[in-house]
Amino acid sequence: MKSIEWINGKVRIIDQTRLPENLVFLEIDDYIELCDAIKRLRVRGAPAIGIAGAFGVVLGIKKMNEEKFKINDYVSEVIKNIRSIRPTAKNLFWALDRMYNKLSAFSGESMEKVKEEILKEALDIYREDEEISRKISENGSEMIKDECSILTHCNTGFLVTAGIGTALGIVYKAVEKGKKVKVYADETRPLLQGARLTAWELKSKGIDVTLICDSSAAFLMKKGLIDCIIVGADRIASNGDTANKIGTYNLSVLADKHNIPFYIAAPHSTFDFSIETGDEIPIEERKPEEVSMGFGKRIAPEDIDIFNPAFDITPNNLITAFITEEGIYYPPYGNWKNLKKS
Ligand code: MRU
Repeated sequence: MKSIEWINGKVRIIDQTRLPENLVFLEIDDYIELCDAIKRLRVRGAPAIGIAGAFGVVLGIKKMNEEKFKINDYVSEVIKNIRSIRPTAKNLFWALDRMYNKLSAFSGESMEKVKEEILKEALDIYREDEEISRKISENGSEMIKDECSILTHCNTGFLVTAGIGTALGIVYKAVEKGKKVKVYADETRPLLQGARLTAWELKSKGIDVTLICDSSAAFLMKKGLIDCIIVGADRIASNGDTANKIGTYNLSVLADKHNIPFYIAAPHSTFDFSIETGDEIPIEERKPEEVSMGFGKRIAPEDIDIFNPAFDITPNNLITAFITEEGIYYPPYGNWKNLKKS
């Protein structure tokens, strides 16, 4: 099952806000509608946001009917609008920069050719992501021991990549290789990506999964129930500091306390070599209602102050290793020599 695809001139996505109750596919052929879908997390997770952004440019450009292409105010606005939707995941900016460079290279060409080339670029991003997630999963699965119990946070499987996923891809691959793997999935408050999406994904693939409240993690670690923690990432600074779903930092501190390896699985498109440390990563803040109306009804007083950061930063010294498509990186971080620098 593909969570995002280009079919007959439209972007087809699984509406992730409808899971786990309903598996609903949306077909989108308007870039504003796609921006809205990204904003509302109908399509979410760093690699999928990048892919959606690239397809968004294709849909935006589709509307142009000039004879010769040039980057005019309309094109700049399309890219600016898509860029502004979610600030933390580097993959979105990485994909949009790639689309922009392609557009620049075709300035002065016929509109028809540019539309063709720009779709080709978005499809390349898509296919590369599929292959990259396969490699991350392969590399990571080698590190997983038989009879392994893994704790994960948020959602990092086939719902967020063109392929089988990053952190969850490793689980799928290890199981495929005959290893016995058990997953504990954090529910991931406030939007419950773990409960709604990870639990659904893993169950649909027949993986042994147990859902826990975020606040149970320390207890499980203390009891010796967790062998390692694997999560994804939204942006990784040059020194290895990593932004991921809020609550990831908590897990890394707990892992350190309990001597449990803590791994980040991510593609090169999540690395931001233009910044040195995690302090420079912009953190998305989302609506207070996501906290106060979490379960469809009010669960906090009307007038309560709410702070709702969607991501946190795990410092590099709490990360045991990075699992990428180009191999595994151990500390000291900073020399990402095999990783594509784009
Ligand atoms: O706000 P979301 O649901 O888009 O956040 C997603 C995450 O934090 C994922 O862990 C991250 O993007 C990695 S996906 C491979």
